[in-house]
Amino acid sequence: PTSVTDKTNSTDQTEDTTAANQITRKDFATDFKFGCSTSALQTEGKGDEGGRGPSTWDRNIQDSTGITEVAVDSYHRYKDDVQVLVDMGADTYRFSISWSRILPDGTVDGGINQEGINFYNNLINELIKNGITPFVTLFHFDLPQALGDKYNGFWSSQIVDDFKAYANVCFQYFGDRVKHWITINEPQIWAPYGYKIDATNALQNAATDPFLCAHHIILAHATAVQLYRDTYQSVQAGQIGISLVTEWFLPASDTIQDQDAAQRAFDFLVGWFLEPLVFGDYPFIMKALVRDGLPEFTDDEKTLIKGSFEFIGVNYYTSRYATAVAFDKDATFSIYSDYQFATVSGISNPSFLFVAFVTVKNKVGDDIGPPTPGSSEIYIYPKGLTDALVYMLNAYNKPKFFVTENGYPEKRDDTIAVKTALQDDARIQHILQHLYAILEAIKEGADVNGYFMWALMDCMEVGSSYQVRFGLAYTDYPNNLERILKKSAKWFKDVFLAS
Ligand code: NOJ
Repeated sequence: PTSVTDKTNSTDQTEDTTAANQITRKDFATDFKFGCSTSALQTEGKGDEGGRGPSTWDRNIQDSTGITEVAVDSYHRYKDDVQVLVDMGADTYRFSISWSRILPDGTVDGGINQEGINFYNNLINELIKNGITPFVTLFHFDLPQALGDKYNGFWSSQIVDDFKAYANVCFQYFGDRVKHWITINEPQIWAPYGYKIDATNALQNAATDPFLCAHHIILAHATAVQLYRDTYQSVQAGQIGISLVTEWFLPASDTIQDQDAAQRAFDFLVGWFLEPLVFGDYPFIMKALVRDGLPEFTDDEKTLIKGSFEFIGVNYYTSRYATAVAFDKDATFSIYSDYQFATVSGISNPSFLFVAFVTVKNKVGDDIGPPTPGSSEIYIYPKGLTDALVYMLNAYNKPKFFVTENGYPEKRDDTIAVKTALQDDARIQHILQHLYAILEAIKEGADVNGYFMWALMDCMEVGSSYQVRFGLAYTDYPNNLERILKKSAKWFKDVFLAS
């Protein structure tokens, strides 16, 4: 399609939509990956079946609702999941390992659960048999309960050694077939919001705990990467990275203050992790504003974390408007003041941004919007993906990227006939526009190597339970959790890949 190559730097949305509608598989490099993402927590189903130990998530769900979760029962239906990937023509699958399924009490001393190893071996082998490349996330929001009880999970530096030992087991058992590892999913969500789930003891310091958690996540990540590089990489020849929430921030007005606020919001959300991984330390602006609340890396730690990735996973859903809050050098913050479990999936006002003297808002503006039907937090702005990728390419030494998540949420409504609910034309448009946004970034020099749609099937949504449908496959909840391809899944194979 020539329209993509012909167009340079257009910001006209209608023109973009027309151009987006013409792109096909052939516009991407032949080794560009097209896949779907999920996580263990949201698909497998909980419980102690198969020797699995409890995770902090299980307890949290029990405490609040008492329901027994089966999620979408992928523990038993993993072959159906692989079949969906085959039927939609995906070449890659990003899933996560449930730590407590491998190590029921979180530690190697507590014993490796062979049934858990068997489950992931079966899933990986089924994928490979069908020509699908596995991308595996080691931590996607579900911590062994034992480590929450023992030391509050990622809020203690003890997590670093336990995470390393867990990663070691995964590399050892699965690394002969898994060539793409993601250490941690969306640490920016877990650091401020995971506390109530992972930590069982009283909050110690509301203003600084998210920064402490993030610090341990960075060290745990880098330690696992170092282990992989020292012990496995030369033989297994794989790559390792991390998946970061990536949003783009537009200044709410064209004042200098709001422009600076948009930059600060990005530094506090993405730079918080990307700057240490690329340059070995936190962004200057974070050090200046968080002051004593921001832990410091030792020189050895700086060496350890700098360059600790082969790729950066970009999870992109939305962009927001940033407004400056008047600077007050004596301000004190309660990071958790706006914490509500129900908002875990939405970070419209992530509390750590208060420390940055910024508020961010979801709203339809001249650029951003419309909102998606299934989430008040996700406003469509594909160009934000181009802008974020291009910004990171320039500011962070041209990292290799995979877009490890992007998705379109619908509201679940079981009164709609299944055959009507399968007609997800809006999702097709959404995918096309984001693929177009990626091509625009590639034209600017961004090294983007893959695109993963969230999610393979409708599944449990963090914070919204089963009320949102993100899937390319429909999950028929009342009818035995059957997976049925939506129009988008068929379109992906028959139109996008075929033309
Ligand atoms: C972010 C998370 O990684 C995933 O768990 C979640 O379901 C999706 N995005 C959609 O909100």
